[in-house]
Amino acid sequence: MSEGLITAAYIGATILFILSLGGLSHPESSRRGNLFGIIGMTIAVLATLFGPRVNGGLTFSLIMVAMVIGGSVGVYAARQVKMTQMPELVALMHSLVGLAACLVGYANYIDPTTHLVGADKTVHEVEIYLGVLIGAVTFSGSVIAFGKLSGKIGGKPLTLPGRHGFNLGLLIVVLILGNSFLGAESPANGMWPLIVMTVLALVFGVHMVMAIGGADMPVVVSMLNSYSGWAASATGFMLSNDLLIVVGALVGSSGAILSYIMCRAMNRKFISVIAGGFGTGGGASPTAAAAPTGDVSPVSAVETAELLRTAKSVIIVPGYGMAVAQAQHTVCEMTKILREKGVTVRFGIHPVAGRMPGHMNVLLAEAKVPYDIVMEMDEINQDFPSTDVAMVIGANDIVNPAAQDDPGSPIAGMPVLEVWKARVSIVMKRSMASGYAGVDNPLFYKTNNRMLFGDAKKMLDEVVRNLA
Ligand code: TAP
Repeated sequence: MSEGLITAAYIGATILFILSLGGLSHPESSRRGNLFGIIGMTIAVLATLFGPRVNGGLTFSLIMVAMVIGGSVGVYAARQVKMTQMPELVALMHSLVGLAACLVGYANYIDPTTHLVGADKTVHEVEIYLGVLIGAVTFSGSVIAFGKLSGKIGGKPLTLPGRHGFNLGLLIVVLILGNSFLGAESPANGMWPLIVMTVLALVFGVHMVMAIGGADMPVVVSMLNSYSGWAASATGFMLSNDLLIVVGALVGSSGAILSYIMCRAMNRKFISVIAGGFGTGGGASPTAAAAPTGDVSPVSAVETAELLRTAKSVIIVPGYGMAVAQAQHTVCEMTKILREKGVTVRFGIHPVAGRMPGHMNVLLAEAKVPYDIVMEMDEINQDFPSTDVAMVIGANDIVNPAAQDDPGSPIAGMPVLEVWKARVSIVMKRSMASGYAGVDNPLFYKTNNRMLFGDAKKMLDEVVRNLA
């Protein structure tokens, strides 16, 4: 393949990646976005395989073997993983990007065919040092994030005394080692500062993520996504590969923007997430603060069906519990029945409902809920006062009025869906347990609120039976 053709292929792939990101920004266009991404990546891989750097024969065969092994593991993992485990899979994949950046950095440093001098040599070595540094932090940080998300490591933040000083110390040593690395005459001399820095970067990655609580882990995964992009970009500089530089920058910046959006939706400061120390093991275990502070009004599936049937307008607010119960298809069925009966049904989606960005949108799209009735929180929040029934399905923190009313609450200031402003709100969950943030929810005790206790799928099946 000629250089010109490869450049054209790389430009085509870059455009497709940008279109892919654009498409992924809305559920309706996300399939198209995915398709653009797949075509772009196929073009990029083919252009690389048939480009001048892969000189046929053994190299080509080795790459093919690696691709078949990696591809098979990827297909197997993607087919096995449950929707609720997706953040874990993503964390594991980021760790591989980080590891790859490290290995490419080392391989590049000892590459006997590279003969650079002067400024070119320095720039190349800075690229290697940065690539290995970011790659190692991404690798170890992602492995720990995977451990925390999968419950293999406790979610409690590890807050060592003087941890910020420790991190600062590591940074200073990394800068000193960088100076020795750049001043080294030969790879043999530069290897030790590179190895010591790698070990320190691995320690930093572990320490950084261990200090962050389980509740913030999805933000960390998105942040590591951003790191993995920058690591890939640094690798692109090392290899003088323009496509890798651009794609890495796209991943790096989109990951950073996503982390920012998630922090804003949880009313957390990005810096305080990185600094760590917030959040518990996550999960819905009741805490002392979750102790009942009033009377709750339980409701049966039959009564729920009656309330829904007689309503003019209903807003459904899904949360993590809907994902756990896999109730999205029944939710869709119930929506269909209600709409046939002339009830206006819409969905209110909180930006951090569930456990990953877009979690609810994906589930509702899978169940074929029409996109035009699925609204963002900001689009629908003002409509609750004119709504007859707000139906909360397996959500908790995202409908907690304490975020607005209690300045002392750990989630104070977090924007929430104001379901309590509807004529009646019905909360469907199994118990009085708290949500991910581990805080009590005063919504349950409001006089216009009803609790429909039970597994979301089971209870919805019953509601649907009574609606039909
Ligand atoms: P949560 O606050 O975690 O509440 C989910 C509720 O679902 C639980 O209280 C649980 O109560 C109930 N539940 C679990 N399994 C159920 C089942 N089978 N049937 C019925 N109910 C079930 O979820 P949310 O309201 O979606 O809020 C998301 C939380 O995750 C927020 O705190 C958010 O900040 C955090 N978070 C999200 C993200 C992203 S990107 N989505 C990122 C970081 C953090 P029972 O045990 O009583 O049933």
